[in-house]
Amino acid sequence: MIGLGRVGLPLLLFLEKKKFDLIGLDQNKALISKLKEKKMPFIETGCQKLLKKSNAKFISNFKEFNPKKIKYIFITVGTPLRESIEVNLNNINLVINELSKILIKGHTIILRSTIGPETTDYVKKKIEKLTNFKVGKDIFLSFCPERLAENKALKELGQLPQIIGVEDNKTFLLVERVFKRFKIKVFKTSFLSAELVKLFNNNYRYIEFAIANQFSIIANNFNQNIYDIIRMCNYDYPRGKIYDPGLTGGTCLRKDFGMLNEKNPGTDLFLSAWKVNEYIPLHLTETIDKKFNINGKKIGILGYAFKKDSDDERESMVPKLIRQIEKKVPKSIFICDPNIKKKFIDGYKNYNLEDTLKNSDIVFIAINHSIFKKRQIMKYSRKNTKIIDIWNHLKTDQFIQKK
Ligand SMILES: NC(=O)c1ccc[n+]([C@@H]2O[C@H](COP(=O)([O-])OP(=O)(O)OC[C@H]3O[C@@H](n4cnc5c(N)ncnc54)[C@H](O)[C@@H]3O)[C@@H](O)[C@H]2O)c1
Repeated sequence: MIGLGRVGLPLLLFLEKKKFDLIGLDQNKALISKLKEKKMPFIETGCQKLLKKSNAKFISNFKEFNPKKIKYIFITVGTPLRESIEVNLNNINLVINELSKILIKGHTIILRSTIGPETTDYVKKKIEKLTNFKVGKDIFLSFCPERLAENKALKELGQLPQIIGVEDNKTFLLVERVFKRFKIKVFKTSFLSAELVKLFNNNYRYIEFAIANQFSIIANNFNQNIYDIIRMCNYDYPRGKIYDPGLTGGTCLRKDFGMLNEKNPGTDLFLSAWKVNEYIPLHLTETIDKKFNINGKKIGILGYAFKKDSDDERESMVPKLIRQIEKKVPKSIFICDPNIKKKFIDGYKNYNLEDTLKNSDIVFIAINHSIFKKRQIMKYSRKNTKIIDIWNHLKTDQFIQKK
């Protein structure tokens, strides 16, 4: 397993449960030390227990691989987007360069990082350029996207159908052998269709959130209650479901729009969805500033991770919300995310819930963690505190909750 992050590590532990022998490689030496000490580096249900009894070998250098002992190689490194809407293939390139030095006949590579259309074909050509092997004859390559949601990894690995993107039947049979042990449905398709399945799934979801956010902006402009409207739209209505608005981020959703948009010279739905979702922090800040004047006020921010009940800060929209609030020059900002086990987050002290609420004039429920109990929010916040509840976390159907 090359890349032991939120995708690679749970997959490694799941494969071990399915009686495979595993070697995990990651360039992050601190991470490898942690794994050797059997400590999970992030929250992922059920993984700590599996890691404790894991016999996997964890390494940080390709030289430590004994290629003869390996049959399958999963690649699960990060594939971020550059700011100019271009997939950054640096991690994939580094892995292919290193792998090419140790590949031997018979190896099967399963590419699992999310990638833009035609990237598997690029990897195939790159391997053939760097080695004397012919892909599909000496070495086997497939693209098998990961579609799980964080914190549901072990459950969903045993449930979600697996798309197997291949260019020949021999590779399919080799890869199918691995996923057969998962006892899930598999689909055989081409490299490109497999790439598109993953991107269509994620972009569909991204657009669903964007339309909820767009509706909330419209309702707000007309001074109408978005939660009432969405409830009426959805109630006993058989066609389509509208989500509640929110801050839509995360390493997948916030970048995967670009993997489709990069291939398109014009504006498209994906770019528009991105614009709407990226506008929400400013929309929230401006709306609240007009009503309560943020300047000189003490501001509380509940939640910093990218989504509910996660400890993953990467590509969270909360820092963007804070930057917009900072532009109004508040007196101070108090941040509270109990899921993130750090004393400071991006230079801000990570306060507990009570201190955040007692200190703040305006509190944004930026992320709707279950740990933020309504009872406590009501108990600790001051009499005149304004609570901004975009997620309708308090279930009062009020965007601005007054005590
Ligand atoms: N996080 C999710 O829920 C999720 C779900 C589906 C798909 N994906 C996709 O899976 C891929 C991995 O995502 P992630 O969240 O696990 O990322 P991550 O950043 O948590 O993990 C990637 C790991 O790869 C390591 N790495 C990077 N370059 C390397 C190299 N050259 N050699 C060795 N190790 C290297 C990093 O140190 C890191 O630990 C991405 O393409 C992502 O879009 C993620």
